[in-house]
Amino acid sequence: MEAIRLHGTFGSYRTATATTTIPSDTPDQPSISIQPNDKVFVSFVQASRDPSIFPQPLEVHLDRPMSSYLHYGAGPHQCLGEQASKVALTAMLRIIAKLENLRPAPGPQGVLKKVDRGDGFYAYMTEDWGKYFPFPTTWKLHFDGEVPDLPETAEEQGAVGVGGLLQGVRSVVEGIGHSIGI
Ligand code: HEM
Repeated sequence: MEAIRLHGTFGSYRTATATTTIPSDTPDQPSISIQPNDKVFVSFVQASRDPSIFPQPLEVHLDRPMSSYLHYGAGPHQCLGEQASKVALTAMLRIIAKLENLRPAPGPQGVLKKVDRGDGFYAYMTEDWGKYFPFPTTWKLHFDGEVPDLPETAEEQGAVGVGGLLQGVRSVVEGIGHSIGI
């Protein structure tokens, strides 16, 4: 959740049902008046760095309340794949955290190809750099040794241990230049 908070380029559209005003939070920006039927884009990028919700917003803290994240949306159209993707991402991270000497591939292969669209949003390039894609696809990582076998039982799934998992997470997070508060 911290990775998607700091690097996700998500947002959500909603249609306003009432008149409201969003006050300006800096003197150089006007307040925003919203009328019924206006289409409003809510940027998760900006919301994810709100220090009143995420203290020390640029640091990775794995103990933030889950209820503070809004990356799967909210309300009746909240992401249908939320629970499935959380299970899949956790399983994937457990394996990745065990990879030995995990590091970005040398040269251009180890660089995520993306185009800056402003306000923290990016368009990602496909592997052949032929077109844009909404999600990152080009960042290659290297590691030493073999991919560990997939755990088959609940006991084996826990075998890496919380300490090992956190150590793996720490090395990946620090490898991409963030500090981590664990
Ligand atoms: C990290 C992974 C994912 C993220 C961050 C994510 C995020 C989102 C967001 C922000 C929305 C819009 C919610 C809203 O408007 O309130 C959404 C909708 C949706 N997502 Fe995901 N999603 C993820 C993975 C998946 C997966 C794996 C599936 C399918 C297996 C999926 C299926 C859907 C569907 C069907 C909707 C539309 C729900 C509706 O309109 O009622 N998502 N997702």
